Amino acid sequence: MKIIIAKNYDEMSEIAAREIADFINNKPDAVLGLATGGTPAGMYKELIKLYKEGKVDFSKITSVNLDEYVGLSGEHEQSYRYFMDDNLFNHVNIDKSKTFVPNGLAEDIDASCREYDQRISELGGVDLQLLGIGGNGHIGFNEPAEYLYQGTHQTELAESTIEANARFFDSIDEVPKKAITMGIGGIMKSKKILLLASGENKAEAVAQLVSGKISTKAPASMLQMHGDVVVVIDEAAAKFIKRA
Ligand code: PGA
Repeated sequence: MKIIIAKNYDEMSEIAAREIADFINNKPDAVLGLATGGTPAGMYKELIKLYKEGKVDFSKITSVNLDEYVGLSGEHEQSYRYFMDDNLFNHVNIDKSKTFVPNGLAEDIDASCREYDQRISELGGVDLQLLGIGGNGHIGFNEPAEYLYQGTHQTELAESTIEANARFFDSIDEVPKKAITMGIGGIMKSKKILLLASGENKAEAVAQLVSGKISTKAPASMLQMHGDVVVVIDEAAAKFIKRA
């Protein structure tokens, strides 16, 4: 696991955008596993900037997103489809028909999860998976639990996740209680992983991520078994690892 400590959020965003742009330049037809949330938003802005400067080309890229809220359509401003369109896809030359996000309105969610995994495998797997990390150590919506799931599945959000995500909604009651997420197995199958974290509220989860111990109660700790992980965090998120 390679750990890069940036001064602050902006530097984390710049470093991560350069990592992704370099990756695309080496593999212009890559399958990117993308993530949403406050953490990658700045990185997407930087990527758009690099695109406008002619330094990266999305024309041959395919993307698959990590997760989506159950019950929100792609037009809902807090859906992850909307986030991706708004934060990246509408501003670069990606072919939108090659951007995939789990369908939060699927009638048969289990079947749509199986189709999602099937699609990823038909695409040849994810080349680079971008991840954030929850304050509770979740990746995607794989919340701390007795056991974790291999494939894409429907899950209930942890209370702390609902509280953390309430900042994006008018009230906490509007935060969906369920989501569809790629499973830990799907994430671990990605050829390369880039995880970002910023802020002191992520410091404990980041410490678990590099602790040398693996637990389903700290889902991100599973990444220690992956052979190609790059972690870009700011100093606040690195607080507890610097002391170690
Ligand atoms: P955040 O979410 O980037 O909005 O903090 C990260 C996550 O929950 O994975």
